[in-house]
Amino acid sequence: MDAPRHTSADTRLLGHFDDKRREYVITDPRTPFPWINYLGCEDFFSLISNTAGGYSFYRDAKLRRLTRYRYNNVPADDGGRYFYIREGDSIWAPGWKPCRTALDDYECRHGLGYTQIRGQKDGLRASVLFVVPLGANVELHRVRIENLSTRERRIRLFSLIEWCLWNASDDSTNFQRNFSTGEVEVEGSVVYHKTEFRERRDHYAWYSVNDDVRGFDTDRDKFLGPYNGFDRPAVVVDGEPRNSVAHGWSPIASHCIDVALGPGESKEFVFQLGYAVLPEKHKWSAPGVINKAPAKELIARYADGAAVEAAVEALRGHWDELLSRFAVRSADHRLDRMVNIWNPYQCMVTFNLSRSASYFEAGIGRGMGFRDSNQDLLGSVHLAPARARQRILDLAATQFEDGSVFHQYQPLTKRGNAKIGGNFNDDPLWMILSTIAYIKETGDFTILDEPVPFENDISRSASLLAHLQASIEHVVNNLGPHDLPLIGRADWNDCLNLNCFSINPDESFQTTGNPDGRVAESVLIAMMFVVYGREFIRLCRRVDRHEMAGHAQTHVDRMIAAIETHCWDGNWYLRAYDADGNRVGTHRSEEGRIFIEPQGFAAMAGIGLEDGRAERALDSVAELLACDYGIVLNYPAYTSYHLEYGEISSYPPGYKENGGIFCHNNPWIMIGEAIVGRGDRAFDYYRRLAPAWQENLDLRKLEPYAYAQMVAGKEAVTPGEAKNSWLTGTAAWNYHAITEFILGIRPDYDGLVIDPCIPSDWDGYDVTRRFRGATFEIHIRNPHGVCKGVASISVDGAAIAGNRVPLPEPGSACRVDVVLGPAAEARTA
Ligand code: BGC
Ligand code: NOJ
Repeated sequence: MDAPRHTSADTRLLGHFDDKRREYVITDPRTPFPWINYLGCEDFFSLISNTAGGYSFYRDAKLRRLTRYRYNNVPADDGGRYFYIREGDSIWAPGWKPCRTALDDYECRHGLGYTQIRGQKDGLRASVLFVVPLGANVELHRVRIENLSTRERRIRLFSLIEWCLWNASDDSTNFQRNFSTGEVEVEGSVVYHKTEFRERRDHYAWYSVNDDVRGFDTDRDKFLGPYNGFDRPAVVVDGEPRNSVAHGWSPIASHCIDVALGPGESKEFVFQLGYAVLPEKHKWSAPGVINKAPAKELIARYADGAAVEAAVEALRGHWDELLSRFAVRSADHRLDRMVNIWNPYQCMVTFNLSRSASYFEAGIGRGMGFRDSNQDLLGSVHLAPARARQRILDLAATQFEDGSVFHQYQPLTKRGNAKIGGNFNDDPLWMILSTIAYIKETGDFTILDEPVPFENDISRSASLLAHLQASIEHVVNNLGPHDLPLIGRADWNDCLNLNCFSINPDESFQTTGNPDGRVAESVLIAMMFVVYGREFIRLCRRVDRHEMAGHAQTHVDRMIAAIETHCWDGNWYLRAYDADGNRVGTHRSEEGRIFIEPQGFAAMAGIGLEDGRAERALDSVAELLACDYGIVLNYPAYTSYHLEYGEISSYPPGYKENGGIFCHNNPWIMIGEAIVGRGDRAFDYYRRLAPAWQENLDLRKLEPYAYAQMVAGKEAVTPGEAKNSWLTGTAAWNYHAITEFILGIRPDYDGLVIDPCIPSDWDGYDVTRRFRGATFEIHIRNPHGVCKGVASISVDGAAIAGNRVPLPEPGSACRVDVVLGPAAEARTA
């Protein structure tokens, strides 16, 4: 465990990592922003903050919201799963909130899929373990109360959750209806939430406890009293439950339990927040009485604290297995904790939830983004290959015959979202990236033959390979005046809207304007076309589709020529041509002279490697874009609104896509640096961004264990301040950059490529990689202090030629010894 440290006079001690237990330990509840964790990895999901705020939902954060949460509330993060301890006049909560009664001790441990919050006051210790077990649609709260004092204590324990009336969007707007629909049933210690079950719903939820209760409440207004907040509910202040039954208004579930504790004694309670779906003919057990059998089964399954402990153990085992697929042992524990624990964890969260539900994404907005979901697979395909396969096929099914795609689809229906439509012309290419990553990880070429509908219409199906081909064609058929790809509404940078020209603040930059503009071109898409076009060609050759490969090769070669002729600005690559054919991202401009995106992609595309342009572009990044907290997106940031550029210029300088550190694209530079062999710089960029290295947490504000989408850039008023943690492509791309390009262990069709690019002062490191059913124990040594270059590799003592370790038998293990050195030139795959 890391010794907590103060780094400067103005940083507070807020917490530390416990690597052994794979937990982040928060020791002061007053974090600068709620620091959250996620529970659940299958169908039941929860967000939980360090003071037990947050909410739960089943599959879809909008349509199946189980508990209510008020975003953008004042104070922030009020509402969650609360436990109140009342002893005489003293009322407190183990998570400090909502009462904010001073505690003698507090600790929140966020682990992988569980959170434990512990508070101590006047010789009483209350700890609550929150977990969503594998294989059940429930959230368990194991509450343990210990009497640390030498006298007998009599307390009253109150629980509280607030039901959401299912559709989170409707719930927060449609009061004329919703205040009349809420219904509950109470049976023993279980409160059932059955709003709308009488009509079209086939699901209900419950909140139970495994003990007798003194009473309960289900009507929020009765529980809180008309003028109180969550901090001092009337029922808790009075100490007596009202046994209220909600009819409309706002249903809640609260239990009241009398707890008597002798000196040194402790007691444990298991609360369960559950959800069940019932077949139509089994909905009722009597007229108006819901069928409680599914709830009772789960309540019995987790009847005591030992069952909860076992669920946590099972979850630990699950993560042990997942994390054993790539594990590094290096000289830097911060690197190990990012690569082995927190980065893959965040990758799984983004895989599960895309951009739906975080403390910045309200769970009612966009569905699954096409480009987001494809890129997220880079960090999760080795953790969930079967689900990745399905995800790729779902995404492909939203493609049109001309290769264009819906920009988003709805996870519940898997249908393209017509409201936003398509015309984000980078989108189709990301599907090549994800499919290739999937095949290299699994060796499963059969995915290419899967029939996949166009536009979700099975009568118009073609193989996945044909879909990839359509992605290529979409670029080829949509070139502009410089033979570069048309940008459409936007490319990866959603805010570079070159065909938008909006003067109306009520319009969306993403759906306004004419995406069919035949002039505005994207240099980024051009480079992506070369990177993923080459991968596509290699794949086609692998599966003997030589004609397809040859066709793509012709167009890739033309694209390279167009880039070389039209995209070099002297010291870096241009970003785009606008709708008037003017250069974007050029030294000739006052603002927005250089953009980050094409500079790393050039090296990734192998463009400018021979003539030095790629390195020169990366040097310009170091000179003009890099700052202490990462690399900003563009520089100088726009100081005024440019009609011809759209949303990018709508942000104040230094924030978001206008000069912010938009963390998703920083790994493109790290990868670029690794490709040109500058490991010191690649890792330096990695370290600047990685959460585990951040020390001034009051400045950063957000979790030190999760990447954020954006960190305010050098021209911002608050450089270093992060926003939008958790659901960002930053997780997958950083994981990809560090594991495959810096540590340099890269899956390939027929083996594992070893191609590190590290700081020259590293002596070496070890990696365990489980790949295609075999275990590779890889030992990398750097006796000559190089950044890059493999001098020799031996497998189980026998030297091999090249840097691709062939696949051993599934189930077997091999030892790989790698010596880096100047003798051999880098042999990349
Ligand atoms: C944000 C982008 C986002 C886009 C689409 C913009 O307002 O700045 O980051 O991708 O909206 O939702
Ligand atoms: C966030 C979006 O989710 C992502 O798709 C996009 O590429 C970035 N914003 C950059 O604008």
